[in-house]
Amino acid sequence: MIVAICNVKGGVGKTTLAINVAISRALAGQDVLLVDGDRQGTAEIALSLRSDNKTPVACSKYDDGKILLAQVQHQSRKYDDIIIDSGGRDSSALRAALYVADKLIVPFAPRSFDSWSLADMSSLVDQANIERQRDGKNKLDALVVLNCADSGGKDNEEAAGVVAEFPSLRYIDTPIRRRKAIANAAGNGMGVLEYTPRDIKACDEISALVNCVFNVY
Ligand SMILES: Nc1ncnc2c1ncn2[C@@H]1O[C@H](COP(=O)(O)OP(=O)(O)O)[C@@H](O)[C@H]1O
Ligand SMILES: [Mg+2]
Repeated sequence: MIVAICNVKGGVGKTTLAINVAISRALAGQDVLLVDGDRQGTAEIALSLRSDNKTPVACSKYDDGKILLAQVQHQSRKYDDIIIDSGGRDSSALRAALYVADKLIVPFAPRSFDSWSLADMSSLVDQANIERQRDGKNKLDALVVLNCADSGGKDNEEAAGVVAEFPSLRYIDTPIRRRKAIANAAGNGMGVLEYTPRDIKACDEISALVNCVFNVY
């Protein structure tokens, strides 16, 4: 499956979740390519820190939309899963990702509710859907997930309410909380599932997200 992880806002956890989703799938036995679509190349740098004894995850950086599209279409014959991390702004790479992906994950932060970024994402999804339908592709399944949520708050309900304003976006109730293990693992090119000391709650949250996106129950 080709999964794009995009938001026009930076710092919402795109790269962190992309690394975690890619590694979770690799640990589940899939051949995975992580595409870094951000000029800053954060995902590629993080994966370069990954030690050799870990499950391999291929990574390529394509920050030009045309090249990203051609490469992903070509590589999708070779890989089981391709996870695309886009940069934090509207770009040709982000638009190509929305065109080529089977699913989209839009991470967003609680409280600020980033509604302007959701409005932007919703309109980018609508535009991508026009091209997709023209080319006989399905509508993009665009999933919004809360990242860096606080525990015990009303973040979930409020987030679901905000997302409901955008018909082309769907809220999924698999929030990821702010957890040191998630940040530390991703910063070293690791998924939280392979990070020690093991943070079981963090593992459960990432697994719930991955299972929901890949329809594994
Ligand atoms: N669930 C999380 N728990 C803890 N820290 C997180 C979490 N998600 C993201 N971060 C931290 O937030 C910052 C921004 O995340 P990043 O993935 O780089 O965002 P983006 O790619 O959207 O710009 C990083 O310092 C990262 O470690
Ligand atoms: Mg990033």
